[in-house]
Amino acid sequence: MKEVCVITGGGSGMGLATAKVMAEKHAIVISGRTEQKLQKALDELRSVNIEASAVVCDVSDRVSVENLAKVAGDLGHVTAVIHAAGISPNMGDPESVLRINALGTIHVHEVFYEVMSEGGCLIDVSSMGAYVAPSIILPARSYRLSGNDPELFLKKMLSRTRILPKKFRSGLAYAISKNFMIWYAAHEAPKFAEKKLRVLSVSPGAFETDMGDLEKDGADNLVKFCAIKRYGKVEEIAHLLAFCADKRLGYLTGVDILCDGGCIAGYRNTPFLGRG
Ligand SMILES: NC(=O)c1ccc[n+]([C@@H]2O[C@H](COP(=O)([O-])OP(=O)(O)OC[C@H]3O[C@@H](n4cnc5c(N)ncnc54)[C@H](OP(=O)(O)O)[C@@H]3O)[C@@H](O)[C@H]2O)c1
Repeated sequence: MKEVCVITGGGSGMGLATAKVMAEKHAIVISGRTEQKLQKALDELRSVNIEASAVVCDVSDRVSVENLAKVAGDLGHVTAVIHAAGISPNMGDPESVLRINALGTIHVHEVFYEVMSEGGCLIDVSSMGAYVAPSIILPARSYRLSGNDPELFLKKMLSRTRILPKKFRSGLAYAISKNFMIWYAAHEAPKFAEKKLRVLSVSPGAFETDMGDLEKDGADNLVKFCAIKRYGKVEEIAHLLAFCADKRLGYLTGVDILCDGGCIAGYRNTPFLGRG
């Protein structure tokens, strides 16, 4: 049976770039909410001789994720899941951001934990945004609720966003959701290890994608702090994601890998901003 790689958010940006790299060793299943976007991505993959499958799936809907997992499982052994689906602050209200980025991640973990084959790796695409919000503002103590009461967890996350004026709430929801993703991957690592699976997160800095364009104002401010003063290219994150998923990295689990051109390091070393 073939090894299968599932890529949520595989219809564009980092997910699509990762599909091209993972296709060297895996059958590819890309997914997202928009059929036309997936069709365009399939055409782009076909133009470089990659035959992939596409499944319409909204990660905030558990049943939809179950359907994705079923299709992928029928194709072969699911040994890689790249969870790149997500929306940014300018794409939705705080509740949508939390439902897609945080609750969606819970769905992907819970469903694919049951489906993945031994030696597999699940990678959550978080964000350097997780590192920027002051820890005092993050409701980290409530992250544990994600395990037994996801709706209460969501309610707590949402209520934390209300400490800021309305126009900043989606931004805070994004930071919380991405900080949660890092915590969640680390928290889930022992459970995944019991099934000989790995789980980790990768946090991109500012990258050239549709989403990156939409968040340009905020991202431009952060790129100023980078050691490498430009946006990242999708291939640069795609190769990292594929590398982390490789079975030869069998001891790599429960960590976050920040790929941000040295941005957070520069930010933290700036007097009055970080710890500088
Ligand atoms: N670009 C950056 O600078 C940057 C920086 C840090 C982190 N990130 C993270 O990197 C990941 C990939 O983003 P990108 O930059 O490649 O942007 P992108 O091109 O907009 O990709 C995001 C993908 O997620 C899919 N998606 C959105 N909501 C979904 C849902 N509810 N269910 C399933 N799929 C959904 C989108 O397709 P549909 O709309 O068709 O569903 C889209 O294909 C995201 O998680 C993002 O937060 C990006």
